[in-house]
Amino acid sequence: SPCIPVLPSGNSASRWWFDGFHEHVAGGCRLPRPKVAGGEEDRNPVIADFDGTLTRYWIDGRRGQTSHGLLQQGNAEYDAKRQALYEYYHPLEISPTIPIEEKTKLMEEWWEKTHGLLIEGGVTYDAIKKSVSEATIAFRDGVVELFEVLEELDVPVLVFSAGLADIIEEVFRQKLHRSFKNVKVVSNRMVFDEKGCLVAFKGKTIHVLNKNEHALDMAAPIHDKFGYPNVYNPDSVLMKQRTNVLLLGDHVGDLGMSDGLSYENRIAVGFLNNNTEMSFKSYLDAFDVVYLNDASMRGVVELVSHLC
Ligand code: TMP
Repeated sequence: SPCIPVLPSGNSASRWWFDGFHEHVAGGCRLPRPKVAGGEEDRNPVIADFDGTLTRYWIDGRRGQTSHGLLQQGNAEYDAKRQALYEYYHPLEISPTIPIEEKTKLMEEWWEKTHGLLIEGGVTYDAIKKSVSEATIAFRDGVVELFEVLEELDVPVLVFSAGLADIIEEVFRQKLHRSFKNVKVVSNRMVFDEKGCLVAFKGKTIHVLNKNEHALDMAAPIHDKFGYPNVYNPDSVLMKQRTNVLLLGDHVGDLGMSDGLSYENRIAVGFLNNNTEMSFKSYLDAFDVVYLNDASMRGVVELVSHLC
């Protein structure tokens, strides 16, 4: 099945958990600095999930909201309908016992129903801005530092999310008050009419378990007006043979985010946010490094500074 996660292969880094992994990983797997910033040299990407990976799972004792969860449509009936779907499907999403094919169907169902309710119940871009300003959402400690280090190193970052691109970008604007030239959001994108009302979603739906299929879509060449692959576009980094990839996720399905990519080494960092006892072993098997308890991103910053 295309949804079976690809486990790290050819990865010279051993699997480490918590302290002490940096030097081992750094010794075995280097992310070389580009020879000329912005040139055609290998640029090894970082591919990061958004909800629960870049963002915190808990904020002051409350569950941090996702890009989907924070949205108030301005229509209480539809907000309640989407919340009811969340209460039904989220436990299924995080259940470690549902077989992957069955879970994939359930996730397709959830995303289809939610997107349908967003269109039917109406959403405006103004409602998105207001929702983000009132949301319980925060980046993990160290995320800004990570983006700054990666920007400085000219490392492309793909934020690859099954959430909503327009909301994620608004979260970047409002919570970070800045953009990063190397960061690109790949997620479900809304289409608004001239009055600023949501009328459709662009392209195929991305849900938590089909990121691997979309990773392949992203590998399609993107050419500039002269017919050359546009190496400045982070999407097109997926075209080239990469030496190394750093992947950050909170779901085993996130491992599929690097499927479009041909690479020699991948270091996959997993943030295990819930069902810790039941999911711990499968995360440890799937990811090279596993962080628990809403850990900060500082370990990843340190890892990057060792590797680049
Ligand atoms: P991710 O790819 O950024 O982790 O995002 C998807 C998250 O969004 C996933 O954990 C489930 C969540 N979600 C909601 O909170 N509400 C919804 O209506 C849907 C469809 C997903």
